[in-house]
Amino acid sequence: MGDGTGGTVSLHDHIGGPAVIGKLVDAFYDQMDSLPEARDLRAIHAPDLTEVRRVLTLYLIQWMGGPADYSAERGHPRLRARHLGFQIGEAERDAWLLCMKRALDETVPDAATRHAVLQALAPLADWMRNKPG
Ligand code: HEM
Repeated sequence: MGDGTGGTVSLHDHIGGPAVIGKLVDAFYDQMDSLPEARDLRAIHAPDLTEVRRVLTLYLIQWMGGPADYSAERGHPRLRARHLGFQIGEAERDAWLLCMKRALDETVPDAATRHAVLQALAPLADWMRNKPG
């Protein structure tokens, strides 16, 4: 993403840094907690989402080009391997992306930024699939 001076602005800076990413993750798990379409997705998560809220925030900060605190704490992301213990098909992927879309609508005012984030997350979510259908 250009900043008009020939440099590039990371998605992390563009979206508004850790404060906005934290709000996005909170809104994401609030959606997962309440959306009927996400009931099965919610069910494969731990009853208490406190820790995963914290960890996904660290992950997304790093993934968007901010500080690499996620890897400092947890090592290489190996994100697909970390998800192999959960059965993820198209339905789970779609529910995950629906929660993220709703969360972006709530927390990121700029439509182009919302679009950029969702476009970048969609292939990642698809890559997480590990069962047919
Ligand atoms: C596509 C459907 C997905 C499903 C069904 C899914 C499901 C899960 C589940 C069940 C957990 C464990 C949470 C817990 O301990 O309660 C988890 C952890 C996690 N997920 Fe996902 N996930 C999906 C996609 C993604 C995507 C696209 C990302 C990244 C943008 C992501 C990032 C993470 C991270 C960072 C963790 C914590 C990993 C760690 O312990 O270091 N997930 N996910």
